[in-house]
Amino acid sequence: MSVDFHHISVMPKETVDGLITDLSGTYVDCTLGGAGHSKMITDRLNSDGRLIGIDQDDSAIEAAKRRLSDCQCRVDIVKDNFSNLENILADQGVDQVDGVLFDLGVSSHQLDTAERGFSYMQDAPLDMRMNQQKNFSAYDIINDYELNELCRIFKEYGEERWYKRIAQFIVEARQTSPIKTTGELVDIIKKAIPAAVRNAKGGHPAKRIFQAIRIEVNNELGILEDAFKTAVKHLKPGGRIAIITFHSLEDRIAKNVLKEMASGCICPPSLPICMCNHKPEIKLLVKGTAASVEELESNSRAKSAKLRIAEKLD
Ligand SMILES: C[S@@+](CC[C@H](N)C(=O)[O-])C[C@H]1O[C@@H](n2cnc3c(N)ncnc32)[C@H](O)[C@@H]1O
Repeated sequence: MSVDFHHISVMPKETVDGLITDLSGTYVDCTLGGAGHSKMITDRLNSDGRLIGIDQDDSAIEAAKRRLSDCQCRVDIVKDNFSNLENILADQGVDQVDGVLFDLGVSSHQLDTAERGFSYMQDAPLDMRMNQQKNFSAYDIINDYELNELCRIFKEYGEERWYKRIAQFIVEARQTSPIKTTGELVDIIKKAIPAAVRNAKGGHPAKRIFQAIRIEVNNELGILEDAFKTAVKHLKPGGRIAIITFHSLEDRIAKNVLKEMASGCICPPSLPICMCNHKPEIKLLVKGTAASVEELESNSRAKSAKLRIAEKLD
C-alpha cells in the first residue's frame, strides 16, 4: 500500500469556516480521504473537541491515521461506509454532534493509483472499488450486466449520448473473451463513438462511462439521501452540515434533500392549503458556491465542485 497520499482538499477554508461553530464540539468527517479537511478541523479544535472520521478505503484510513496522530483533540477513525452513519454514531456513544462533512466522490490518490482501476488514462484491471473488501467490481458490471442494464447506467449515471452503441459494443466484445482491463474498455468505447464526435472538444471519450461505472460499483448516489437526513437528525441545534459535490447528479440530490428539509411546506403546488404540516429543520447558509479563481488555478479538481452548508434549527 502506498505511503504517499496525494490529495488537495477542495474549498478547505470555506468548508471548515462554515462547519465549525464550537471549538469544544464534536465533528464527523464522513469522507476522510487523506484527512485534509479533518486536519484543518482538528487544528482548530481545543482539547475538549472531538473528530470522528469515516472512510471505506483502507489506504485513506491508513493515511488519515498518520496525519491525525498528534492532534490535541480526541480523534476516532472508523473504517465503514457512511451509509452506516446511524450505527457508527451509536458505536461511538454519540447522539448529537456539532457538524458533519461530506466531501463526495473519490480522492486524487484513488484516481492516481493505477491498479485501483478508476482512471481511463492508465491501463489496469477493471476494479473501481472504494472498499476493496467488496465482492463486486467494474469487472462484474462490464462482463455480467445485460445490455439494458449497461444502457441504464451509462445513460443515467454517465449522461452519455452514445450509451446504446457503447453498451452494444461491450456486449459484442465480451462474447469473444472477458473484458479485463481499463485499456481494453477505453478501446471499445473509442470504437463505439463516431470519430468525428470523438475528436471534437469535450474531454476524454471514456470520461462519462467511467463515471457511470464508478457510481454503480460504489452505489454512490443511492445512499446519499438517507445519509444526509441521518446527519441532520444528529446535529445539535445550531450545528452544521457541509456537502461538497463534484457532478450534477450528486449535487442535485444534495440540493433537493437540503431544500426539502429547509422548507416549511412540501405539499404539491396544486393543493390550495397546506396539508403536510412539514416544519423546516434547517436553514440554508451556503447554496452551492464554487471554488475561487485562485483555487482553480492551483487545483483543477475543484473546477466542478460545489459547496452547500446548512444549519440545524432549534
Ligand atoms: C474527495 S475524498 C475526501 C478528501 C478529504 N476531504 C481531504 O481533504 O483529504 C472522498 C473520500 O471519501 C471516501 N468515500 C466516498 N464515499 C464513501 C462512503 N459512502 N463511505 C465512506 N467513505 C466514502 C472515499 O474513499 C475517499 O477517500
